[in-house]
Amino acid sequence: MSSLVIAGAQWGDEGKGKIVDVLTAKAEVVARYQGGHNAGHTVVADGKQYILHLVPSGILHKGTLSIIGNGTVVEPSALIKELDELKAEGIEVTSENLLLSKGAHLIMPYHIALEVASEKKRGKAKIGTTGRGIGPAYVDKAMRIGLKVGDLQHPDIFRQKLKGALDYCNEILKKVCEMECFTVDAVYDEFMGYAERLNPYIGDASIAVNQALDEGKNVLFEGAQGALLDIDHGTYPFVTSSSSIAGGVCTGLGVGPTRIGKVIGIVKAYSTRVGSGPFPTELEEEVGKRMQERGAEFGATTGRPRRCGWIDAVALRHAMRINGMGAVAFTKIDVLSGLDELKICTAYEFRGEKITEFPSSAAELEECKPIYGTIMPGWLETTKGAT
Ligand code: IMO
Ligand code: MG
Repeated sequence: MSSLVIAGAQWGDEGKGKIVDVLTAKAEVVARYQGGHNAGHTVVADGKQYILHLVPSGILHKGTLSIIGNGTVVEPSALIKELDELKAEGIEVTSENLLLSKGAHLIMPYHIALEVASEKKRGKAKIGTTGRGIGPAYVDKAMRIGLKVGDLQHPDIFRQKLKGALDYCNEILKKVCEMECFTVDAVYDEFMGYAERLNPYIGDASIAVNQALDEGKNVLFEGAQGALLDIDHGTYPFVTSSSSIAGGVCTGLGVGPTRIGKVIGIVKAYSTRVGSGPFPTELEEEVGKRMQERGAEFGATTGRPRRCGWIDAVALRHAMRINGMGAVAFTKIDVLSGLDELKICTAYEFRGEKITEFPSSAAELEECKPIYGTIMPGWLETTKGAT
């Protein structure tokens, strides 16, 4: 049995898809354990660029089973669009190479409406979400009024649960958000259409992953987002709504902790962040702009420019500890070529004191000033082929 978690060590967009793609050559199964189509994994394979959102990057390899686990949230029309796009690129997705877990929760049209309303209500303090309905879908899961992928297989159960959810969500939409309500009939009809398309892929992720491990197959767990966007350990409230750290594999896929092998952290050679929230090493002047341009730092999901800054060792130490990362893979080092010097943040100054542990509150982090304990000379030559 060999299993490996690939998790982001920063605020997402570290290059997880690329590393998963490289490692998939040796994996029989690649499984997503959390998040949804808020992720944007850019992979260049055989000279072609693919942007994957919910489908694991393993889908690009023939003979690999890709699994979308219980801990994810699934927007059916977005998933169908992704499958159609893959097909147009010549990648055939069948029940042999994709399994969508029954236990994953569905992102419903009213979740997207509720997210628009909540971001608007927050005003300046908005999270800067991807607008995909991720947060409200996890809210309903925790409220115990969510609908699951498995419900698509039973129209009567689906309808009954939908009615229950809308009885509540329509009240919020109408009275709190002053927005249009949704009708059971319209949502039901729309989703029964999706059910037909997705039915062949629906299965049980926990059974499939554990069976693969029993058979000694290599399994990769593909994280989305990153440690600092984790709901419990990230820069709350400026986080996503799921457990993006390695621990999320256990709950998100129904795999016991004893079955997790190694954890590799993916670290970009500098830091980026999309959306709002504290970012101590952010560079708003020339060097940051240069990173943004050279690194093509524009969101793969929303197209928003990513905020850029120096690498942050305080945040990385935190990320490595909460993930149990035994190794890191550095990405995008070439983007830094040509700079006179590189800075590494090794501590923060908080209210006149030097601190070396990552604060647990975003408000505290907002006040932290980076201390650049390491300043390295840059390089002019290309990093291509460097070892
Ligand atoms: P990958 O997998 C970078 C950010 C959003 C926002 C916050 C909450 O490509 O690394 P959400 O829509 O999840 O409720 O938004 O999280 N965010 C990401 N940032 N990479 C991602 O995914 C992200 N997924 C969500 O910008 O700040
Ligand atoms: Mg991304």
